[in-house]
Amino acid sequence: MAESTPEDGLSSPASMLSFPEGFRWGVATASHQYEGDNTNNNWYAWERAGRIVSGDSCGLAADWWAHAERDFDFAAQLDLNALRLSLEWSRIEPRPGEWDAQALARYRTMLQGLRERGIEPLVTLHHFTNPLWFEERGAFLASSCVELFARYVAHVVEALGDLCDFWCTINEPNIYAFTGYQLGVWPPGRKGATLDAIRVQGNMARAHAAAYATIHSRQPAARVGWAQNYNVFDAANPRSGRDRLLAGIMDAAFNDIFPRAVLTGKAVFPFSLAAGNLSAVRGTCDFVGINIYYRDLVTFDPRRPLEMFSRRSSAPGTPHGDTGAELVTGEVYPQGIARIARRVSAFGKPIYVTENGVADAHDRLRPWLLATATRAMHEAIADGIDLRGYYHWSLVDNFEWAEGWTLRFGLAALDIETQERTPRPSAALYGAIARANGLSAETLRDYIPEALV
Ligand code: BGC
Repeated sequence: MAESTPEDGLSSPASMLSFPEGFRWGVATASHQYEGDNTNNNWYAWERAGRIVSGDSCGLAADWWAHAERDFDFAAQLDLNALRLSLEWSRIEPRPGEWDAQALARYRTMLQGLRERGIEPLVTLHHFTNPLWFEERGAFLASSCVELFARYVAHVVEALGDLCDFWCTINEPNIYAFTGYQLGVWPPGRKGATLDAIRVQGNMARAHAAAYATIHSRQPAARVGWAQNYNVFDAANPRSGRDRLLAGIMDAAFNDIFPRAVLTGKAVFPFSLAAGNLSAVRGTCDFVGINIYYRDLVTFDPRRPLEMFSRRSSAPGTPHGDTGAELVTGEVYPQGIARIARRVSAFGKPIYVTENGVADAHDRLRPWLLATATRAMHEAIADGIDLRGYYHWSLVDNFEWAEGWTLRFGLAALDIETQERTPRPSAALYGAIARANGLSAETLRDYIPEALV
């Protein structure tokens, strides 16, 4: 880990990185990873098919369907003023066109519970999970997804709109498409289906646009956006034209299909060949959500035609999260927040960091990550970028998709047998940041030296 220097502002006791009034300090969560007993969706089917590589079951997860309020109390104790949660479509519409009033009533109590604690909800309408009936109809590969998603969204806004006006339509369309249709390690398990991965993103963009219009027709003042995962790709050798070109191609293919559709109503060649007509997608966001975790260095390698002649690596000594059961991830790179925020400022809309975190059971990197993310955001805001909030992934340990319980992202550790929570040291740090609306000298003294070891 790099040492901080007096000049970088972090080790100077006199420095105080203050944030604008009203800045959102929150946490991000998702229904399947927290609620427990979601047995009517594609991820449950995936688990039953033995596809969770760790062999774990989601089970009760963090038991939010019964006891989310226990963790809302924890968020309130940390003085957080924001929380991102998702709605489980498979609970709300268990069969096509059938609506579960009890499920909606439970979400009402959750949203009320957050508001009573002074925590503003940001509600995600789709976070990776599909109802089984929707999956059977082809999910986001079938063009019917646009109408079906908009119908669900209309129902939700009518039932919950008095408690929420801040909506994230779709979480990480690029990760959903890449893992499900390119790598094949997530449902529906299609490997190397590159054209379908692009089609899915085109359909998701149209479904997002339909949801945007649906919400605004019922709630004109709503703030509606989506959350894009940005993986930073840099040339391993910045002097190599081939490395730079490849890093740019990987960036365009992985990060940019959906955002470009929202920005311009088009896809660039060659993605335009499969993405379909995106003109209705243009301008459909009131904010941009950015999820930032990793950076990869890219090297040209003629021996790897199947990986676009590229090799991905990290520089020696860079921070890495815990090793999961299968997925190999890059350098943990909260510094990317400033770079990506600058890039998405092209939308001319408010920006929220809708996720950032690290798999770190022993909290060896999380304090450093929180401090570094805070510094990166401060830098972006000082540059005039309209960054309005940070949602740390995550509040307590969550069921981590195909990695099961092997990766621990929580500010609090979760014992899945007893449901006992044990806050990690970084919870206190994050609470101090939220309370001070910035990174104070005292916080720096208490946490940064250990974090930098
Ligand atoms: C996803 C979360 C996931 C997190 C950590 C994000 O890509 O939105 O659901 O838990 O990364 O891997």
